[in-house]
Amino acid sequence: MQTLIINIKELLQVRENQIDKVSGAEMAILPTMKNGYLLIENDFILDFGLMENCPKINPVTTIDATGKMVLPSWCDSHTHIVYAGNREQEFVDRINGLSYEEIANRGGGILNSAKKLHETSEDEIYNQSKVRLEEIMYLGTGAVEIKSGYGLTVEDELKMLRVIKRLKENHPVTIKATFLGAHAFPKEYKENHQGYIDLIINEMIPKITQENLAEYIDVFCEMGYFSVKETESIMKAGLAYGLIPKIHVNQFHSIGGVQAGVKYKALSVDHLEILNPEDIQALKNSETMPVALPSCSYFLSIPYTPARNIIDAGLPIALATDFNPGSTPSGNMNFVVATACIKMKMTPEEAINAATINGAYAMGISQTHGSITKGKKANLIITKQLSSFYQLPYAFGSNLIDQVLLNGKILT
Ligand code: NIG
Ligand code: FE
Repeated sequence: MQTLIINIKELLQVRENQIDKVSGAEMAILPTMKNGYLLIENDFILDFGLMENCPKINPVTTIDATGKMVLPSWCDSHTHIVYAGNREQEFVDRINGLSYEEIANRGGGILNSAKKLHETSEDEIYNQSKVRLEEIMYLGTGAVEIKSGYGLTVEDELKMLRVIKRLKENHPVTIKATFLGAHAFPKEYKENHQGYIDLIINEMIPKITQENLAEYIDVFCEMGYFSVKETESIMKAGLAYGLIPKIHVNQFHSIGGVQAGVKYKALSVDHLEILNPEDIQALKNSETMPVALPSCSYFLSIPYTPARNIIDAGLPIALATDFNPGSTPSGNMNFVVATACIKMKMTPEEAINAATINGAYAMGISQTHGSITKGKKANLIITKQLSSFYQLPYAFGSNLIDQVLLNGKILT
């Protein structure tokens, strides 16, 4: 089955050759093609080029994109969209002066979500999460990583990961699953960290990998959560079972999490709101992708990841939402791209690179996603009529997406 998109004003993120990511000065360049066509066969991009070379064929579907842009759909490499209920009360508590850390120390935060998840049936969690997943598909996300981490018991972590598996089976969006048992210490292990780490290592990881429920392993490496030493032991155990690390580091403090991630060849280190020159140095000569989550900074009123320092040091950066009930109840990648430009001083070119090809890298799918390249998945955004692609971050808050294609099919 073929679909032909014609009269495209500009194709964005056009890469003739396969690349896995862009770094440093290359981040400023977004390759585009003006006045083009794009041909899809089944799930894949079969061909693209200038309109004057458009093949004379009779495809099943033709889409006229006059005045519109076509770009690869967003690759959101960091979310926690499987959860139960919400944390609206904590939101109001923060407005009234409590900090995110103070709320967590009172037993709110992640433990609050874990309690709600425990009390909610697997079907109900699926139904609630499906609404969020479908929302982000229409917002242009074509690939998403989803973490566990609100279970914190063997049964409940498995329950979350099974929900992710079911979401994957029933939706056209590409999904990668990450095991985040090390998200917080449950109350009963507050004074017995090793006991919980043993549970993660000896029970959770073997069961999860036996059921093939995750590809990645995450740890919240932070003061009051998992120390660097604890993080290292969990990454090591995960790696022994084939789980690649992707970890939360430097959200509130720089304690050596970046260095630990690099040491264990983490695919990505995420958050990085507090980043010192040694952390940046550690990322050089590594294959680890730094990931910024600007919606989290916005929602919690914490510093933004210093993207300029990262890019100017020659490094790549990816952007993701962090969609979760506590620190970022939003999965809108369009807002992430705009906020990266407005608050982190990334250019539109850098932000789009960070939210597509580099996002794909940070979830291990840059061979198939994140650019307009022949043979890649036809997961695409067709914008409304735009003056230029600068309008995407400039007109923040407007929905500039006209149509979304996933696996070559128009989302209706
Ligand atoms: O990435 N920082 C750790 N985990 C999530 C927030 C979890 C929560 O508050 O529920 C994050 O921000
Ligand atoms: Fe997160």
